[in-house]
Amino acid sequence: MNVYDSHRMASMLKDMGFIETDAQEDADVVIFNTCHIREKAAEKVFSDLGRAYLIKQERQNKGLDTVIGVTGCVVQAEDKEIIKRAPYVDFALGPLRYYRLKEVVEEIFNNREAKLLDTEFSAVSKFDFLPENKAEGGCSYLAIQEGCNNFCTYCVVPYTRGVEVSRPIKEVLEEAKRLVKTGSLELNLLGQNVNSYHGEDENGKERNLAYLLNKIAEIDGLERIRYTTSYPADVDDDLIECHKNLKKLMPYLHLPIQSGSDDVLKRMNRRHTKDEYLRVVEKLKEANPDIGMSSDFIVGFPGETDKDFRDTLDVVNKVKYIQAFSFKYSRRPGTPASIMDNQIEEKVKKERLQELQDLLFDYQLKFNQQSVGKVMPVLFESKGRHEGQLAGRSPYMQNVYAEADNSLVNKIVQVRIKRASTNSLKGEVI
Ligand code: 5AD
Ligand code: SF4
Repeated sequence: MNVYDSHRMASMLKDMGFIETDAQEDADVVIFNTCHIREKAAEKVFSDLGRAYLIKQERQNKGLDTVIGVTGCVVQAEDKEIIKRAPYVDFALGPLRYYRLKEVVEEIFNNREAKLLDTEFSAVSKFDFLPENKAEGGCSYLAIQEGCNNFCTYCVVPYTRGVEVSRPIKEVLEEAKRLVKTGSLELNLLGQNVNSYHGEDENGKERNLAYLLNKIAEIDGLERIRYTTSYPADVDDDLIECHKNLKKLMPYLHLPIQSGSDDVLKRMNRRHTKDEYLRVVEKLKEANPDIGMSSDFIVGFPGETDKDFRDTLDVVNKVKYIQAFSFKYSRRPGTPASIMDNQIEEKVKKERLQELQDLLFDYQLKFNQQSVGKVMPVLFESKGRHEGQLAGRSPYMQNVYAEADNSLVNKIVQVRIKRASTNSLKGEVI
């Protein structure tokens, strides 16, 4: 979601006449779009800001002005902290307020004494104010839903992104068509809880994600659809049908379980048990036997016993994820879990994370190895690590590298897979 928001901010600044640069020393405006999900991400902001301040001072010595802004969830959660620890920040906008970027940047340039902070949880939707966006490449994100009502006890999202809001069907379809028209072959529909999407159609009737997926699949020129991130208890039968019937829907689903222990899931305030989750996966696999699953896991949640942790490993052995993200529980201020008894010590969290990741990587490597010899459609997105090489994605979100001409960027090309490692595949364009 932050990548999507950052693109939208960049496109607003481009509309104002700014040019993007990779070199911070050259930038008149620097914006940090921040994440608050775990402590490490949130702390990184302050070290990045410290570096930006040094660059600002160096530029000042050369007579150049620099505006420093912070956006995203750290602003929402730590607005006072930012001003205290980084008083040189010119403006700070919460994740629902960055649609004001143009006006804010203009105001700061007009009055260099001004400081602007805006973390309103407004009734207006930022999407009503954002200028039209275009595709940045063959693969685009499209936010269809934002915020979350689930209140998992470890998670800051409901406090930083607010309550769940779905964008209306018409608005999403217009953006989807525009992205396809300007070059996107793949759309990844985004939301913190994307499968509880319930946007209104033109008659004011609420429609689910399956309805939207069917509509989006009708767009000519669009080849691939994905959606992320889903909540297990909100996977309905209509959505499962989509995995059976919609050829454009990729055979890959990120469906976080977080923990395999029913006790832990309960204390996490998740609305599903281990068996309910496994049943959803089973139904998805019945609908499309080729589907590859991915998940998020948290280890070391308060009170997690060794038996609880074994239940998590058991889920991994049953689902055989083709990819996954796993994290040590991070205590987030203001969340219910942060004041629970029996916080787990760092050493135990570290050991459990290592064991879980070893197992996850084993399955990921096995899956990648099974790809060797197969021919798959790869959507090339950028230059690869080596000269003459391009990097792209398989239908299963695997990173694929192949020798190929630059003219194949943003195209879907058949590639024969020759080699596999845990994180990527190497292939040959055929
Ligand atoms: N500690 C560790 N991981 C977390 N996540 C969310 N909150 C926390 C936390 N406090 C993870 C969850 C979620 C992913 C985006 O981040 O696994 O699915
Ligand atoms: Fe956070 Fe996801 Fe739970 Fe919502 S469903 S509270 S975003 S972990």
